[in-house]
Amino acid sequence: MREQLALVTGAGIGLGRATALALANAGYRVIVTDVLEVEGREVVAEIVNSGRLAEFHALDVTDSGAVNRVVSAVEAQHGPVTALVLNAGIARTLPLASLEDAAWDETMNVNLKGMMRVMRAAIPGMQTAGGGAIVCLSSIVGAVLGWSEHIPYVASKGGVMGLVRAAALEFAGQGIRVNGIAPGVIRSAQTLDPVNSLGEDGLAAFAETVPLGRVGNPEDIADVAVFLLSDKARYLTGQVIPVDGGTTISL
Ligand SMILES: NC(=O)c1ccc[n+]([C@@H]2O[C@H](COP(=O)([O-])OP(=O)(O)OC[C@H]3O[C@@H](n4cnc5c(N)ncnc54)[C@H](O)[C@@H]3O)[C@@H](O)[C@H]2O)c1
Repeated sequence: MREQLALVTGAGIGLGRATALALANAGYRVIVTDVLEVEGREVVAEIVNSGRLAEFHALDVTDSGAVNRVVSAVEAQHGPVTALVLNAGIARTLPLASLEDAAWDETMNVNLKGMMRVMRAAIPGMQTAGGGAIVCLSSIVGAVLGWSEHIPYVASKGGVMGLVRAAALEFAGQGIRVNGIAPGVIRSAQTLDPVNSLGEDGLAAFAETVPLGRVGNPEDIADVAVFLLSDKARYLTGQVIPVDGGTTISL
């Protein structure tokens, strides 16, 4: 039997990279996509060097034509993408007083519309295949909590909750499951950025507040993504699962 085909957006670094590696280890052929070409190709090399299957495609999720072209090209060669991880996202500090329309649009375009674009391109293949599974990266901010000076980010991540629920219902009858993960604070380039997020000191301080005693690692999210995409989650759809070391039950 042909191995399952997984596509991950924003897979050059961080949570996307960890998820691509975990999916490869779980036996998927992994399509690594990102705007970061060097990093994406390094992830592919790591997977291929470990004897697994992967290939890189440059992909900006804000470009509908590119999204459609990449999904078509991949499916022409390997068959339908039956596992999809919509991970690409940006976080910017944007106080409302100085928030320009363009900055709002940029965050929405990547974080929310970007997910819709890739989902829209991949679902016909899943329908042909008779099923599939999708995981969208929301966040505990947006899903449960707020984040001062990050209105576009939080609104986009709240929007991902709606995307998950509506798409899950729309495609449940065709064996396509759509779920989300709401990560807590995970160590990555995003959270290590002291301007747009917590930075190293902020991560250390936040770790003190986490019931499980540490901030997350990208692998903590990747393992849940692999589970949600697997047949072990066969009766699970339309849910966004907080993976946060207990943060949202402790505040
Ligand atoms: N790290 C956390 O604590 C945390 C918490 C909650 C949610 N998340 C979400 O998880 C996802 C991954 O986060 P991360 O911490 O790994 O972030 P990161 O900044 O380390 O990586 C983000 C990835 O998205 C890619 N990307 C950005 N714009 C893109 C575009 N237009 N097209 C394609 N790819 C693009 C980047 O190149 C990068 O590979 C994001 O959606 C983020 O919002 C992260």
